[in-house]
Amino acid sequence: MVSRVIPVETFDLVIFGGTGDLARRKILPGLFRRFCSGQMPDNAAIIGAARSEHDDAEYRQIVRDAIVEFGGAQAKRDAGMLDGFLEHVSYVAVDIKGESGWMALAGRLRGDVVRAFYFSVGPSLFGDIAERLHAFGLATSDSRIVVEKPFGHDLESARTLNATLAKHFAETQIYRIDHYLGKETVQNLMAVRFGNMLFEPLWNSQYVDHVQITVAETVGVGGRGAYYDKSGAMRDMVQNHLMQLLCLIAMEAPAKFDPDAVRDEKLKVIRALNPVDYHHIVRGQYAASDHDPSYRDDVDNARSTTESFIALKVMISNWRWAGTPFYLRTGKKLRARTSEIAVVFKDTPHSIFGEEAGRHRNVLSIQLQPNEGITLGVTIKEPGPGGMRLVDVPLDMTFADALGPDAEEVPDAYERLIMDVIRGNQTLFMRGDEVLAAWAWTDPLIQGWTSRREVPKPYDAGSSGPEDALMLMHRDGRRWRDIRA
Ligand code: BG6
Repeated sequence: MVSRVIPVETFDLVIFGGTGDLARRKILPGLFRRFCSGQMPDNAAIIGAARSEHDDAEYRQIVRDAIVEFGGAQAKRDAGMLDGFLEHVSYVAVDIKGESGWMALAGRLRGDVVRAFYFSVGPSLFGDIAERLHAFGLATSDSRIVVEKPFGHDLESARTLNATLAKHFAETQIYRIDHYLGKETVQNLMAVRFGNMLFEPLWNSQYVDHVQITVAETVGVGGRGAYYDKSGAMRDMVQNHLMQLLCLIAMEAPAKFDPDAVRDEKLKVIRALNPVDYHHIVRGQYAASDHDPSYRDDVDNARSTTESFIALKVMISNWRWAGTPFYLRTGKKLRARTSEIAVVFKDTPHSIFGEEAGRHRNVLSIQLQPNEGITLGVTIKEPGPGGMRLVDVPLDMTFADALGPDAEEVPDAYERLIMDVIRGNQTLFMRGDEVLAAWAWTDPLIQGWTSRREVPKPYDAGSSGPEDALMLMHRDGRRWRDIRA
């Protein structure tokens, strides 16, 4: 099964922060893969823009190195195409807060192609770029801008950011990236939910016991300590990525798969979230191990009370979900790198096979990474003699099997989203009001633990998080699914 690749329109894509970490790790390798797949048109132009002085040749070398380092197996295999890709790449030194470079950049842009500006820089620079794009006449009524998270730090700052961008760009021009929405399985979740009749009648609190969303990482905060210590897992992951996953599970079917229809439905979910009782929040911080430093060492802040792990029990006040808890959990330095959404259905009302046959629950597991795929646990009779014993078997929709040898070709979230920007499709991007609603729900929780001066619970690196997180579910007679790759 090889995916059909339809080339996008010719474009000029300017990457502000073109020498930065995100550009080198994700954006440029992603664009290279789209080039190799034949999706990038022959005369597309990628223009790196940053403060440092480089000529085109030097920048191409930076891009080449980045692709070799971060492009993965496919980049190695397609290394022969790298020179062809680099012909599309050029560079302009631009002073984002000043005047220099803007006219030169304007001179590089063509009039009759899609024009997109990727703000791959800190949010404090968004306003400066937006303003200068207008002042120097680079922004047209059809240009698109792409902005990265963190989109604000709280409701107030997100409002300010929205207002800053809105001064120069219409909402239809603003692409707020949440890269989780670009993941293959996340989109498949929508296909499974809204492309099949099978699940919909069961997709509610009458049949679903609870939902678990886990995004576990094995890495610590690495070199991002300064940013992370001001954010923590709640701001870094829950307010955006886990919230988006929750929305896709909980939302009503939109009338169409179009940007506003989808985002209207997600917004309704966010607005229906209950405030979370503080007994239903567990925050943790990884402790030092034999080989590795603690969170506090990593962020160089011996008194930090920022969480590197969080687990919450979230309730949704609407007809479909009242009474069904959504348990969310995410953290750094956990046992395995895995992201999973598990929809756990209720027990059968009565077991006709008797208790000795065992009791089983259907679980729809949506595995985002690694091994993207969806499995449905179904109960059947254990094969062979020995009476009526029940056993769970997975109905496996793992994409790796379905895709066969092309499995590693599953596009990275970023490359897909960048192509959507060029296509002008905002469905997988967050709308301004959605981001504000997410902060409006998040802020009081953060204010709550800050005013109670709560200190996160320590947990061992390589574990499943603090003991209290296990208790969060045990108290409800439930248990977390194992964190394993
Ligand atoms: C980012 C967070 O948005 O997502 C990081 O800032 C986190 O802290 C990353 O590591 C996880 O993304 P992925 O795609 O590796 O699951």
